[in-house]
Amino acid sequence: MASPLDVVILAAGEGKRMHSALPKVLHPLAGRPMVTHVLDAARTLVPRTLVVVVGHGAERVEQALASPELRFVRQEPPRGTGDAARIALATLPDDGAVLIGLGDVPLVPPEALASVAEIAQSGRVGLLTARLRDPFGLGRIVRGPDGDVRRIVEERDATSAERAIDEINTGFIAAPTLLLKPWLARLSPHNAQGEYYLTDIVAMAVADGVDVKAHVADDEVSVQGVNDRAQLAALERVLQQRAAATLQLAGTTIVDPARIDVRGDLRCGRDVTIDVGCVFEGRVEIADGAVVGPYCVLRDVTVGRGTRIEAFSHLEGASIGADARVGPFARLRPGTRLADEVHIGNFVEVKASELGAGSKANHLAYIGDASVGSRVNYGAGSITANYDGANKHRSTIGDDVHVGSNCVLVAPITVGAGATIGGGSTIVHEAPAGQLTVARAKQVSIARWQRPRKKTKT
Ligand code: UD1
Ligand code: CA
Repeated sequence: MASPLDVVILAAGEGKRMHSALPKVLHPLAGRPMVTHVLDAARTLVPRTLVVVVGHGAERVEQALASPELRFVRQEPPRGTGDAARIALATLPDDGAVLIGLGDVPLVPPEALASVAEIAQSGRVGLLTARLRDPFGLGRIVRGPDGDVRRIVEERDATSAERAIDEINTGFIAAPTLLLKPWLARLSPHNAQGEYYLTDIVAMAVADGVDVKAHVADDEVSVQGVNDRAQLAALERVLQQRAAATLQLAGTTIVDPARIDVRGDLRCGRDVTIDVGCVFEGRVEIADGAVVGPYCVLRDVTVGRGTRIEAFSHLEGASIGADARVGPFARLRPGTRLADEVHIGNFVEVKASELGAGSKANHLAYIGDASVGSRVNYGAGSITANYDGANKHRSTIGDDVHVGSNCVLVAPITVGAGATIGGGSTIVHEAPAGQLTVARAKQVSIARWQRPRKKTKT
């Protein structure tokens, strides 16, 4: 029977090459800290224990990753990957096999991890390696004349002949815990970086007669590490292209798969069209036949069948019914619920409000903390004054109400069904159903009034 598997992910380094106040492993990739992608891959192995080694920015990293099945171990100060592994292994029982991985290799494929773990579970040392066109900066796999792995040498400690080797260490190494512990205890920092290298255990295993087997990854991009922001951006594009391809194959039209950003969970029905430059965050659901125009941001939004979101709209925490029209230049804030066939036009902002079927606010308006009925027409420049400087108040606007242009509805307020509010009114009392309510100064014209004239210089 295979021995139990424990997994250790190293995430204590500072990430100097990021030049950042944010610990490297927390830099977002597709909207989530890069290390969470590695943890997701590790979780597919269903390990007995999942340990994360933290150090630089430890509290922040622990807070960002907090999850009941994760165990954090602190390495302070970070003195190399071998030192980090040693500290983690001190907390693990001897009866298992351990897979050690790097928190900065976010696209590592779960199947590759499984292969490397299995090697260790059968008593050997497993390495995940890859052949790269440009291996610069990485640890090289040195093999003997028989083709067997002998040791790993870091770029900075390598001879020029070793630097010519194109097979690299991806940073994922597995071994039986009982064998690994004494090797880690014997590491020394006598190398170019003055660090304890995890990679030095390979030569120790070979010296002790333990088999070392490399699993060579078949895809070079998925084992790329992130040391700087250029590498991070490159992997972001890879993930986004994958997300776009998945959507396309399931029936979504993506006008340009190189110009979409999915930073959460985007689900689309059939025949959805997404134009260029859109950003999707959190959980977004778009029903059949809906269209999202160019340069929209949708965060935690549901969009009904056949609805059109026009260009440059910013939608957050909103649910939109079928056959609705939103935008261009619309803003929906959290708590917005639009029924079917609602029209929200340019420079209209809606917050914490429901609008019933067929209601329209087509231009330059604010609707906040309001319950708006069906078939309401809400004129240009009209607003709900929902905030008195201390508290927010609600407005209730009945079915079939017409609110003229430039009205201020001072909440709390009720406008009865079928009421009409004359343009330019400031409404502070209830407007009864079915009646015209106007609240504005009477128009006067002064016949003999004269415009002031400029004094002529003498
Ligand atoms: C490491 C490997 C190298 C490999 C490369 C793959 C070593 C010595 N080198 O180099 O062979 O080709 O990854 O990307 O293992 N970390 C700690 N504590 C420390 C130092 C690092 O937890 O004291 C963590 C970092 O947070 C990071 C990871 O280990 O997530 C890798 O560290 P990094 O310094 O980036 O190693 P590389 O130089 O990339
Ligand atoms: Ca690295």
